[in-house]
Amino acid sequence: MITFTLNGLEVQVPAGYTILEACQFFGIEIPTLCYYEGLEPYGGCRLCLVEIGEGNNTKLVSSCTYPIEEGMIVRTNTKRVVHARKIMIELLVSICPTSKTIQDLASKFGVTKIRVPIRKENCILCGRCVRMCKEQMQGKAIGFVERGYKKKITTPFNIKSDDCKLCGGCIYVCPACQLRCQGPDASTDLCSGCLHFEPSCTNTHDDMQCWMG
Ligand code: SF4
Ligand code: SF4
Ligand code: SF4
Ligand code: FES
Repeated sequence: MITFTLNGLEVQVPAGYTILEACQFFGIEIPTLCYYEGLEPYGGCRLCLVEIGEGNNTKLVSSCTYPIEEGMIVRTNTKRVVHARKIMIELLVSICPTSKTIQDLASKFGVTKIRVPIRKENCILCGRCVRMCKEQMQGKAIGFVERGYKKKITTPFNIKSDDCKLCGGCIYVCPACQLRCQGPDASTDLCSGCLHFEPSCTNTHDDMQCWMG
């Protein structure tokens, strides 16, 4: 077991836990976005920041990728963490304001203003879809291309991939897509098709927000 200090209390977890896993074990909520249970942590969104260290020697780290170490001091709700978290959520809303997942995060964590230009992208580059395809569906139908502001998710050669099994897994885990679209038969604002792994629109919509068409 590893002993460390979490928000002032000395606690123990099995070796190999990340800070996020340890916090979840003790019921401490940390917001996440690129993290998805069952997929390899990616550490891309920096929403899960916590502060480690003490005195003048502290730093913010992504809790979903940072392993717990013996004697570590972790704080999850300092002013610095709360401030950084709000800035990350603000940026995420500015990139993809149509994501209900991100709007809910803004509401829950007290983000009331967006001070950066709204970009209205369809993707926040969290990589959940790529990892879902690769790790759970054993596919390589989608991936990241380019770098910096040109970075995006696409299929090889930007055409429909023969590697795609039309499983819908990428849509199921996508925080930008899953709660935005609705299929042709949906009777509410939310699409139940994706949630049940039966996307109802794949045969009828040309402009669907997924990689399956
Ligand atoms: S629908 Fe295609 S691209 Fe999406 S996870 Fe399944 S195999 Fe991969
Ligand atoms: S398409 Fe969705 S799941 Fe994939 S990287 Fe973009 S926001 Fe994340
Ligand atoms: S499969 Fe269809 S309904 Fe589901 S998210 Fe994609 S476009 Fe929307
Ligand atoms: S949830 Fe940890 S970096 Fe995205």
